[in-house]
Amino acid sequence: MYVCNCNGLNRRAVDQAIADGARSPGAIFRELDCKAQCGKCVGEMRGLITACRHLDAKGPAPCHDHVHAAPAHYLLAAE
Ligand code: FES
Repeated sequence: MYVCNCNGLNRRAVDQAIADGARSPGAIFRELDCKAQCGKCVGEMRGLITACRHLDAKGPAPCHDHVHAAPAHYLLAAE
């Protein structure tokens, strides 16, 4: 499933960018070496970031509403 059709960014890539620390759509684009084009995906990216925001507040914890593409660094660090 694509989050950003203009840049061909799928959910796995966006989730990984967030897991790697991206906390804004702009940071996601930078992490994935691309730029916003039409901007239609920005709202969905913000929703995905918000879903993971509890990680910043409470430290290591799993996301409950989606699955990351690969084990996130914060989960590996907690083991
Ligand atoms: S869908 Fe992401 S910039 Fe157009």
